[in-house]
Amino acid sequence: SHISSIVVPNDFEAAAKISMPLKSWTYISSYSHDGSAFRGNLASWQAVRFRPRIFADVRTVTPECRILGSASAFPFYVSPMGQLGRGHAVAEIGLVRALARRGAHGVISTESTVKMEEIAAAFLEEKKKVTASAAAENRPEAQLHFQLYIPADREIAIQRIRRARATGVFHSLWVTVDTAVLGKRSADRKLQAAEALAASPDLAAHAERAGFGMLSHVGSAQLNASLTWEDVKWMKQEWGGPVVLKGVQTAEDAARAAELGVDGVLLSNHGGRQMHDAPDALTTLLEIRTYYPGLVDRLEVFVDGGCRDGADVLKAVALGAKAVGVGRPFFYALAAYGEKGVERCLDIFADELITGMRLVGIKNLDEAQPERVNASRLLNE
Ligand code: FNR
Repeated sequence: SHISSIVVPNDFEAAAKISMPLKSWTYISSYSHDGSAFRGNLASWQAVRFRPRIFADVRTVTPECRILGSASAFPFYVSPMGQLGRGHAVAEIGLVRALARRGAHGVISTESTVKMEEIAAAFLEEKKKVTASAAAENRPEAQLHFQLYIPADREIAIQRIRRARATGVFHSLWVTVDTAVLGKRSADRKLQAAEALAASPDLAAHAERAGFGMLSHVGSAQLNASLTWEDVKWMKQEWGGPVVLKGVQTAEDAARAAELGVDGVLLSNHGGRQMHDAPDALTTLLEIRTYYPGLVDRLEVFVDGGCRDGADVLKAVALGAKAVGVGRPFFYALAAYGEKGVERCLDIFADELITGMRLVGIKNLDEAQPERVNASRLLNE
């Protein structure tokens, strides 16, 4: 379908599905087990309702905010996703160009198709073209962050951190902490079993004995079951800038992170791809509000998973989150339409957010306070 017929973020999904091979589609869309965490994520946003206030003079509204001390045009950003090249040949280059043009933030995956140095260079080049106009209009500039998988070999992790720092482009380091092992990606396994069987029943039996294959490139080299809280120290030292733990799933762990001087936590169940029956991020955010009131002032709290509506971003901000990560819709947008798709997806989220602010009676994000939402349904689930 023509890009102009894409009106809501979910529209990108069907467009992407018909534009790419089954294997890529399966990798992007899959979740662990039967999808309970994935579906829980989607449902959580709808379980929170707004409490719109009237007569607020909302002619002029601004969704600008700060993410880890860096200005951002929006309280949402593109989540790190590996292997964007499986969706479209422009891969991460297309993503960062679109981010640069829209003044948005994005987190770049360790598992990117393109080398981080090339991504950084393409981002800077595009940013140079738009910086003058952004400054003239006093708009925040785009910003990249780097997502780190910590392999079992610490030397590799340290090299990776140094390379990312040397680019001078990445503002903060997002260390993924929910992947001691890979979640059970059922659709991946079924597809691989079918392919192996079609090739040769004997080979299929052999592959089964050798261990389950995964479409994900997060191979065993990226996973690390030995990490503990002790590891936070050297990571912080090595990076020397803001550090966020990506994949925190309880209030206790968020509080522990704050004690250790971590700058932020991303409440996330990895888009329902790791522990199935994991909590959705909004539920964990409410848990923090209940058991550690004031914690959201001691470190920056982010959420992701299942956000498919720009207005929904406001719900998380009202409950104390700094910003919301959005994953699959951007992968689908890139797959179907290249960098134009990413731009359109950013525009759609921005437009829905601004309309949402007006309809809820909020002129800026400082006004997005807890009383603007009713989360009782989520608590009762
Ligand atoms: C991911 N995610 C992810 N996370 C991470 O830390 N490193 C990575 O390389 C990837 N790769 C990746 C690939 C694909 C195809 C998906 C869908 C997800 C998880 C991602 O950062 C984020 O937590 C979720 O995608 C958010 O959920 P939604 O918005 O996709 O529902």
